[in-house]
Amino acid sequence: MKVAVLGAAGGIGQALSLLLKIQLPAGSELSLYDVAPVVPGVAVDLSHIPTDVKVTGFGKDDLATALTGCDIVLIPAGVPRKPGMDRSDLFNINAGIVKNLIEACADNCPDACIGVITNPVNTTVAIAAETLKAKGVYNKNKLFGITTLDVIRSETFIAELKGKSTSDVHVPVIGGHSGTTILPLLSQVKGITFTDEEVASLTPRIQNAGTEVVTAKAGGGSATLSMGQAAARFCLSLVAAMQGKDVIEYTYVQVDGSEDAAFFAHPVRLGKHGVEEILPYGELSAFEQKAKEEMLDGLRNDIKMGVDYVNS
Ligand code: 2OP
Repeated sequence: MKVAVLGAAGGIGQALSLLLKIQLPAGSELSLYDVAPVVPGVAVDLSHIPTDVKVTGFGKDDLATALTGCDIVLIPAGVPRKPGMDRSDLFNINAGIVKNLIEACADNCPDACIGVITNPVNTTVAIAAETLKAKGVYNKNKLFGITTLDVIRSETFIAELKGKSTSDVHVPVIGGHSGTTILPLLSQVKGITFTDEEVASLTPRIQNAGTEVVTAKAGGGSATLSMGQAAARFCLSLVAAMQGKDVIEYTYVQVDGSEDAAFFAHPVRLGKHGVEEILPYGELSAFEQKAKEEMLDGLRNDIKMGVDYVNS
């Protein structure tokens, strides 16, 4: 497996690269790209950790080499939120960054699976899809918005609230990756029941968890370590699936014929070629159904912004 991290010298990129250096299967290659001049140093630093994963750093003029032969590309590049900002406030800067990086993926590793982390994910995934279409290499089964952080946050908060081990808590989270578009399906958490009051307080806590980190970092950025862990979990699931294991993850993908939105986080069976099957998310409670209906216009608009950005 050859995995590239684009934006590898940033807060998410470094945490993610460390976790992959430690956990990718022996014989894998990790290709670290960043415009920041420190990236060769990050690669050297990681290369001293004794695992059978080869790490190479690539600076701003070496994107094509970084991507050549990649099976998986993870994209955390871009600017993070500051207090008071919504993820959509990052659109003006991050849209162009994602478009350029995706063009390079199209040119150098058109068959790779691509996981987008750069915010606003609801929109940057649509930008990636349209950019790949314009290059004639779009494969909807190989493009993912990484929403795993919403899942791991839900699992953590619920385990804390209910006094359970996090390994016993599994939470479906559908929709998008911003505010009310993040929809945890608490009614489907196996073995745990919630009062109406718990649902009414846990749901917004999960939806605003990213902002909780932004506020606590007080101008120093948004979640990096937990996002690194979430993206590593998603990548390792994808690697396992590409090597023949049966794996299901919740992720933001193109859903043909969806009555919700063109892109929507669903449970997805991953396989050798990316998405093997998009699974239904099952029955919603009345609370979840209402929350879904109220957020759909916003999510559809986020997606439209991405489509229009590339096509106008
Ligand atoms: C978050 O949810 C950074 O979008 C990321 O914290």
